[in-house]
Amino acid sequence: MSKHLVRRHSYVARVGHWLTVFSFFVVTLSGLAFFFPSLRWLTAIFGTPQLAQLLHPIFGIIMILGLCILFVKNVAHAILDKDDVPWFTNVIEILKGREHEVVEVGQYNAGQKMLFWTIIGLGAVLIVTGIIAWQPYFAPLFPVSVVRLCLVLHSLSAIALMLGIIVHAYMAFWYKGTIRGMIRGTVTRKWAALHHPRWLREIEKGEDAHSSRLSS
Ligand code: HEM
Repeated sequence: MSKHLVRRHSYVARVGHWLTVFSFFVVTLSGLAFFFPSLRWLTAIFGTPQLAQLLHPIFGIIMILGLCILFVKNVAHAILDKDDVPWFTNVIEILKGREHEVVEVGQYNAGQKMLFWTIIGLGAVLIVTGIIAWQPYFAPLFPVSVVRLCLVLHSLSAIALMLGIIVHAYMAFWYKGTIRGMIRGTVTRKWAALHHPRWLREIEKGEDAHSSRLSS
């Protein structure tokens, strides 16, 4: 690897991420087609409405499996701790785009961490309510009132997830060089020094320890 690059995401995390993204688009398009009669034409993307109805829960499960990979790979870095306090107390400056001047961010900033837990929480609600409401397999096992409540919760959490993902994808494009990390696995040291300086310092400490072990 070039001296200018550092590894940010493993191969498994990247495959898990893009599998989640692809399935997210399939479930979003088919879900919107069921929810809004005016968008029923979207089912044509899948061939027929029946096929869209079949693919929606299958890709929903694939999305959750991808999300499980992302959970395992990122959970250790997504726990809020005392180092996140300055991010909250300086949130106005951060919204003005001065994050690197006011806080020293680690692997993820507090905003990313909160969005991570929101995505994981909504994913959990979507899979549980989706399975209970799944016709004709599981829904007949539950009272109609429970299935109806699950459908409401399923729709609300799907809308919340769509809004969360719009913010997530916007931020990924906004901070130039971030997407590269999820495609190639590496980011430039310059990007890391600007957006995640504490994380870069920890990596460089590890590299120094490794090279001094080799030279001794
Ligand atoms: C076009 C859509 C998307 C783009 C461009 C995108 C881009 C990215 C990028 C660049 C990262 C790495 C951030 C970093 O290294 O700091 C990331 C992380 C992540 N993405 Fe996405 N993503 C998209 C959609 C999704 C979807 C649909 C989900 C889940 C339903 C998702 C869940 C995650 C999670 C859990 C992480 C791990 C770290 C974090 O929470 O920031 N992403 N994404």
